[in-house]
Amino acid sequence: MITLAQMAEAVLRCADGREKTAQSRRYAAEWQAARAAGETPEIGHADPPLHPARPDAPALLSPRDVPRRRPGTPEGRIALLHAVAHIELNAVDLHWDIIARFTDTRLPMGFYDDWVKAADEESKHFNLMCDCLEEMGSHYGALPAHAGMWRAAEDTVDDLMGRLAVVPMVLEARGLDVTPGMIKIFKQAKADSAVAALETIYAEEVAHVAYGSKWFHFLCGRFDEDPKERFHSLVRTYFHGDLKPPFNEEKRAEAGIPPDFYWPLTASG
Ligand SMILES: [Fe+2]
Ligand SMILES: [Fe+2]
Repeated sequence: MITLAQMAEAVLRCADGREKTAQSRRYAAEWQAARAAGETPEIGHADPPLHPARPDAPALLSPRDVPRRRPGTPEGRIALLHAVAHIELNAVDLHWDIIARFTDTRLPMGFYDDWVKAADEESKHFNLMCDCLEEMGSHYGALPAHAGMWRAAEDTVDDLMGRLAVVPMVLEARGLDVTPGMIKIFKQAKADSAVAALETIYAEEVAHVAYGSKWFHFLCGRFDEDPKERFHSLVRTYFHGDLKPPFNEEKRAEAGIPPDFYWPLTASG
């Protein structure tokens, strides 16, 4: 078995979405089987690329150049699922990147167990979105997608606490805010497989946010820092713009993110 950091690097260097996620799921299964057998596999070190490999399509555009479509139309719903597929593919890479990027920091095995599980789930989410798109006569790569989704990773390339604050605790937490509205759109359209896929995503994303909060608090404890203050200063440093309500306060609470973490970072906070 290659080291976990080598697995992570291999996933990051794989360009094709379906191939990347297949590899990701295979490695996750290998890791989880070893852990279930009571082993402590090697984390090792690797050389993760600054940008993960990406397929030729979709074309990546600046957010303001991505055409907006109304969600009340089939084209609009395809565009919405395409955008989610793109987010999920980035999330696969983000979770493997946090594994490979910070191997100089001593961390408990549970840190790696959590992110391997999250990466495995993101891989499943990407495939679910691709399946839905194909069922609707489209596919991932058929539409342009947002560039800049990797920016948070670049900005926090040498700051693990910054990475945890911005990626799971801000960006993935935002997913908890917006997913119920999306589920409603697909329910109204009676698009059953999209509803089921989005419900799976919604249920599993809570844990990813919770992993972020858990390891962020762990590191604050290690350095004897106040978590709320540290969170605010890191988000102000690395996240561009205000956090936008409405927030899903219930799911955020379930994920270990209390209101005084996010409300002060809104425009009116
Ligand atoms: Fe996901
Ligand atoms: Fe996630």
